[in-house]
Amino acid sequence: MDHVIQPARGIEGALRVPGDKSISHRYAMLAAVANGKSTLRNFAPGQDCASTLRCVRDLGSKVEKTDNEVVISSPEGWRSPAAPLDCGNSGSTMRMLSGLVAGKGIACTLTGDASLSRRPMKRVLTPLTEMGASVASQDDYAPIAFAASPSHLRGIAYTPPTPSAQVKSCLLFAGLFAEGRTSVTESIRTRDHGELALRAFGARVDRQQDVVSIAGGQTLSGIEAFIPGDISSAAYFLCAAALFPETNLVLDGVGLNPTRSAILDVLTMFGARISVLNLEEVNGELVGVLRVQPGSLRGGNLSGALSARLVDELPLLAAIAPYTTEGIEIRDAAELRVKESDRIAVTAKNLRRMGAEVEEFPDGLRVAGQQSLHGAQLETMDDHRIGMAFAIAALRAQGDTLIRGAEAVGVSYPAFFEHLATITKK
Ligand code: S3P
Repeated sequence: MDHVIQPARGIEGALRVPGDKSISHRYAMLAAVANGKSTLRNFAPGQDCASTLRCVRDLGSKVEKTDNEVVISSPEGWRSPAAPLDCGNSGSTMRMLSGLVAGKGIACTLTGDASLSRRPMKRVLTPLTEMGASVASQDDYAPIAFAASPSHLRGIAYTPPTPSAQVKSCLLFAGLFAEGRTSVTESIRTRDHGELALRAFGARVDRQQDVVSIAGGQTLSGIEAFIPGDISSAAYFLCAAALFPETNLVLDGVGLNPTRSAILDVLTMFGARISVLNLEEVNGELVGVLRVQPGSLRGGNLSGALSARLVDELPLLAAIAPYTTEGIEIRDAAELRVKESDRIAVTAKNLRRMGAEVEEFPDGLRVAGQQSLHGAQLETMDDHRIGMAFAIAALRAQGDTLIRGAEAVGVSYPAFFEHLATITKK
């Protein structure tokens, strides 16, 4: 599908972004191994979380979905599925579900689409094997096949070589079923939705400085939960609003977990005017209303822990960097090369097609400020975040921009283009 974005004059209106993808995956997986029934409202609508629901259903859970409410229970527990579990495009599904199937000793094969089959799985296979899981893969890439295991995994103490919330959650989920204690040491703190979700379902998870740990043998109980709006989806509209002098945007019910909200810190540091209203806590997650008023964007350097905390927002920040006064340099972000696409290469390519000057590094990009871009034909490379990032960049370009492969946005935000149209002033 092609989608045309026309230049805008400003951003105005109010929106509610869909439920958080990271939280939806975790709640669905834990609901599927908990005792009793869970009701999850405002469940993320994209294909990624649908992949998680499909997998847990194939493992034997009961999943009823109406609009954005999902009810999950597993009255008969999990069984080995007849066919491979299809994780689609979702790295979160494959990595975190690996922890649960290994923990429960379920024989199954996890597969995914072409993009997911190119993404590194060694990061979960190495520690799960160390815990005693028996798993075969194609050189640490999908498909990955877990053998049935009647004996329990052993808890381990593990330090992931690359900071990753998916790996941390995978190991804590496996640790739930292991003998002894499983602990993960993080040199850079990644999103803590896994820890908060385990606690919401009744598990005890401990944190001491940079070590998070769980004792095996705990049982979970189903919950009723309302999932906060996804701040990584809100980020597109926050950036769009920050680009225009004619702006007045309100985003309702946005998840503001401090391990996810670095985008607010950075935009504010760059000069955007964002206020947080009505902050409250739901199942350990912070939720609030965001308001953006006219400001301007200076730009600056993003590196180290900040790059890790902004990992999903970096392509967006690079895409709007030409409209900042000082430009943006991103470093320490080599992980972007192994996301749904090589996000450094694709971002640089699309920016150049719009006429921008970009310098590409193995671990990032430098995009000069005060550049004026023109509309162009762009590719998403089937990557949802690339499609949305360049839809925002296109709002301030001269002339129309054609986004090819725009259907990719459905992975996390199927209504993205409709929502964008409702707040765009032509
Ligand atoms: C996610 C963690 C991040 C992020 C991904 C979702 C999660 O990946 O990029 O979109 O839900 O845990 P890492 O595992 O590299 O931190």
